[in-house]
Amino acid sequence: MSHLVAPSLLAADFANLASEVEMVNESEADWLHLDIMDGLFVPNISFGFPVMEAVRDLSVKPLDVHLMIMEPDRYIERFREAGASTLTVHWETCKHLHRTVTEIRRLGMKAGVTLNPHTPVMMLKDILPYIDMVLLMTVNPGYGGQTFIPGSINKIGELRSMIDEEGYDVLIEVDGGVDLQNAPVLIHAGVDVLVAGNTVFSSSDPAEVIRRLKEPV
Ligand code: DX5
Ligand code: ZN
Repeated sequence: MSHLVAPSLLAADFANLASEVEMVNESEADWLHLDIMDGLFVPNISFGFPVMEAVRDLSVKPLDVHLMIMEPDRYIERFREAGASTLTVHWETCKHLHRTVTEIRRLGMKAGVTLNPHTPVMMLKDILPYIDMVLLMTVNPGYGGQTFIPGSINKIGELRSMIDEEGYDVLIEVDGGVDLQNAPVLIHAGVDVLVAGNTVFSSSDPAEVIRRLKEPV
């Protein structure tokens, strides 16, 4: 499978959201990545259901929703209604992770689990058979435009081996500090989905950056 690219809307111009979503619609992007932050799990607040529903009505790309919120179980159904195709929860926020991912799948979404940079991939060992994607944070979650944490490359390799050895059908997504320089390295290390915020939206030609991120390595 060739890798997927998911531009992160967090870095878009929110005063012109419709044209930003339109740009993504017309680009080679595979998914649109939406970051939901609650000001508790992460020290920032992004946007909620009204914005997400407006984006749902405009987007032709599947919505890849990254929840950075405490107690995500309270809102699983609400995010399905708001248009989530993939719903990703943080390992660090879930006491009963198996129940959470089972519920996400029961409601017809793909279930993802996200790890903070300090959480070892070994913690996923017993949940991998029940999920569709792992999102490895390559910065500390909460803000766009941060610098990629280099040690993440080892985690990607480790997770790739865990998945391949057991033959699981689980995608690896990375999020944070992805750019045109490190993208080929990430793909070589075993990544399936690249999330990119600032690299895409701060460019004068975002669609061209998406095209280059999509290029085979
Ligand atoms: C950070 C978010 C990211 C963010 C990435 O907590 O999860 O999706 O938008 O932004 P960049 O690509 O600018 O690091
Ligand atoms: Zn994200």
